[in-house]
Amino acid sequence: MTILMLAGSPSQHSRSTALLRYAAQRLAARGLSGNELGLRDVPAVDLIEGNFNGAAAGALRKRVSDAQALLIATPVYKASFSGGLKAILDLLDEKSLADKIVLPIATGGSAAHLLALEYSLKPVLSALGARHILAGVYATDRQVVLHQGHVTIDDDVRERLDSAVDRLARHVATAPLSQGYDLGYLALNARFSI
Ligand SMILES: Cc1cc2nc3c(=O)[nH]c(=O)nc-3n(C[C@H](O)[C@H](O)[C@H](O)COP(=O)(O)O)c2cc1C
Repeated sequence: MTILMLAGSPSQHSRSTALLRYAAQRLAARGLSGNELGLRDVPAVDLIEGNFNGAAAGALRKRVSDAQALLIATPVYKASFSGGLKAILDLLDEKSLADKIVLPIATGGSAAHLLALEYSLKPVLSALGARHILAGVYATDRQVVLHQGHVTIDDDVRERLDSAVDRLARHVATAPLSQGYDLGYLALNARFSI
C-alpha cells in the first residue's frame, strides 16, 4: 500500500509543497510512507503536448494505480488550481481515482479564492472517478511562511492539516476500499475551511 503525494506547484520554494511534506512527515510518524511526485518528474514536453501514450504518462498512471490514497497539493492560480497539476491529471485514465482516498491541500495569496477548489479541482477529481474526497485544507500565504529552507505553519493550519492527515491515515489503515467500505459520505462533508 502506498500513498502518493502529488505536488502541483511549479515553484521550487513552494508553500503548498511544504504543507504536503509536513503531511508526509505526519503520515510517516504513523507508520505510513508516502512518495512524492512533482511536476518536474514528468518531462515538460509530455505535459505540454499531453502525451498520453508516452512512457512518462504510463509510469505516472502506474504510480497512481499503485496508490491507495493521494494527497494533492496545489497553489491557487487565477482562481483555480495550477495548470501544471491539470496537465498531470490530463495524463491519467478516465476513472483512475475510483477507490482512492483523496486529500486536497491548497495555498493561496488570500482567502478570496477559498472556494475556487470546490468548483475547480473537485469536479476534475470527480471526473476521474474520485468518490472519496476528504475535507481539504486551505491556507493563505501568511499562514505558511518559508524562510531559508524552513517552513513555519500557523497553528490553525497545522491543526487542520493534522486532523485531515489523521483522518486519512485512519481510513487507509482500517477501511481498505477494496473491501467495499464506502467513504462516499465524506465527500458530502468536504469543505475548504480557513
Ligand atoms: C500566476 C499566479 C497566479 C496566482 N493567482 C492567485 C489567485 O487567483 N488567487 C490567490 O489567492 N492567489 C493567487 N496566487 C498566489 C498563490 O496562490 C500563492 O502565493 C500560493 O501560496 C503559491 O503556492 P506555491 O508556493 O505552492 O506555489 C497566484 C500566484 C501566481 C504565481
